Amino acid sequence: MYDGKKILITGGTGSLGRALTKFLLTTKIEQIRIFSRNESKQVEMESEFTDERLRFLVGDVRDFKRLCRAMEEIDFVFHAAALKHVPKVEYNPFEAIKTNVTGSQNVIEACLHENVDKAICIGTDKAVSPLNTYGATKLLMEKLFVTAGNYINSEKYRTRFIAVRYGNVLGSSGSVVPKFISQIKNKEILTITDPKMTRFSITMNEALDLIVNAMKYGKGSEIFVPKLRSYTLEDLKKSLIALLGPAQEKIIGVRQGEKLHETLINQDEMNYAWETDDMYMITNQRGYNEERIKKSYNGVKKIQNLEKYSSDVAEKISVNELKALITKSGLLK
Ligand SMILES: NC(=O)c1ccc[n+]([C@@H]2O[C@H](COP(=O)([O-])OP(=O)(O)OC[C@H]3O[C@@H](n4cnc5c(N)ncnc54)[C@H](OP(=O)(O)O)[C@@H]3O)[C@@H](O)[C@H]2O)c1
Repeated sequence: MYDGKKILITGGTGSLGRALTKFLLTTKIEQIRIFSRNESKQVEMESEFTDERLRFLVGDVRDFKRLCRAMEEIDFVFHAAALKHVPKVEYNPFEAIKTNVTGSQNVIEACLHENVDKAICIGTDKAVSPLNTYGATKLLMEKLFVTAGNYINSEKYRTRFIAVRYGNVLGSSGSVVPKFISQIKNKEILTITDPKMTRFSITMNEALDLIVNAMKYGKGSEIFVPKLRSYTLEDLKKSLIALLGPAQEKIIGVRQGEKLHETLINQDEMNYAWETDDMYMITNQRGYNEERIKKSYNGVKKIQNLEKYSSDVAEKISVNELKALITKSGLLK
């Protein structure tokens, strides 16, 4: 799929962007353009990835003209740029609107302008029935992407817009696993919001698989969701104590803007949700037609017997499996 192609990654210096770059460089891709604001992060990445197929473009997704230049002759766009730290976004909500919402619309308009083949945006479970501003801005990003094809003249514009949605990547900055590890290692009190709290678990490799599959399989206007298991904070605590030693703990309660359980597909979306062997797919509500979907997508089935797909009802990862996952992730070093 990537042989001889040129791709652009917005937010290419971020944790996902770097992992995606590493993967794409293993293919016969012709060029990868990294698009982000901070030149220092680009310089650092440039010295780590010495590959002449890489190009580094300083730019902001808020700047439509710059995006158009960056997308000249581009085949595929991965839109990963975002403001993503929940408390930061809560404190600076309109900045997140400018980057996550207006910036995403700029990406869409630039794709159409430059005749990009496919574009995929990276969404989050926090966008499902959102409780915080970050989730709300990412919901709008998703909506902009999956509806972008609804109103365009398909003879004039060819870009197909796709979304993926997943939960916190294991070990990503600001997430619970590195926080607990640091608290135990530094002999601090383990601050547990609620032992019953559940979260979906996804590794960076699983996230990459989803994105790569969605890019290949998507025909436009779908949201792809991985099939994941979840864990409780109680089990996470037990696994880290088993790995790192004892710790005192304090229950601090669920924080503002935080949910006890995360949802990847809510009850209403289930009406339009299908599955393949590897992933779930929420289809476009506009012109929804089950026969057409069965014909268009190889091997899809309508999801049965699942009211909603949330971290409290998903199959749980055992303490021993969590221990193995965390050890393998390298986060304990
Ligand atoms: N990490 C997770 O657990 C997780 C889970 C679900 C979904 N996601 C989504 O996945 C995407 C990537 O996440 P990540 O963990 O890789 O984030 P990250 O490490 O914080 O990287 C974000 C990237 O976006 C760039 N960026 C931020 N604002 C920008 C702007 N206005 N214009 C251009 N570039 C901008 C940043 O570089 P500069 O600051 O230099 O511009 C950086 O390269 C995000 O959309 C996030 O919402 C992440």
